[in-house]
Amino acid sequence: MSNILVAYFSAGGTTKRTAALLAKAAGAELFEIQPKEPYTAADLDWTNKKSRSTVEMNDPSSRPEIGKRLANMADYGVVFVGFPIWWYTAPTIIKTFLESYDFAGKTIVPFATSGGSGLGKTESALRPCAPAAVWKTGKVLRGETESSLKSWVESLGV
Ligand SMILES: Cc1cc2nc3c(=O)[nH]c(=O)nc-3n(C[C@H](O)[C@H](O)[C@H](O)COP(=O)(O)O)c2cc1C
Repeated sequence: MSNILVAYFSAGGTTKRTAALLAKAAGAELFEIQPKEPYTAADLDWTNKKSRSTVEMNDPSSRPEIGKRLANMADYGVVFVGFPIWWYTAPTIIKTFLESYDFAGKTIVPFATSGGSGLGKTESALRPCAPAAVWKTGKVLRGETESSLKSWVESLGV
């Protein structure tokens, strides 16, 4: 078994496709971070101040529940954590994920897909949720191929 994990949350499928390609490029296992309560189209309406995503993203204590726990996190030394950018940062379910496991001695590499935004301050916002991990600078992935992702993974030296 590979000791690299690609864990991702995807509401619309874009991050899911990118995560699958990254896992292939890195020879990694894939794990989907699935919300216990799936996001509906109405939940994702960023023009609505009362939609679920807007309410969660405005609440620093928001930690949406995850449906399924990964039983063998101990097997992995490197964890790529992927998500769509929501409001210039990571969806709060990523905080739930990071706070659900012991990342001591593990390396975390964040990655995202977006409509155009970069990672901005995402990394510093997530670090306190897994302070014992070694954090590598992540990336917004767009228009990648298996070989471009392979080069990126190799450049990280993980
Ligand atoms: C609630 C919400 C907020 C978003 N905020 C941003 C943003 O701040 N910047 C950006 O470039 N894209 C933003 N997007 C677009 C998503 O990041 C982009 O479409 C992403 O690739 C979706 O990934 P997914 O299909 O895996 O969910 C937002 C999308 C949603 C639903």
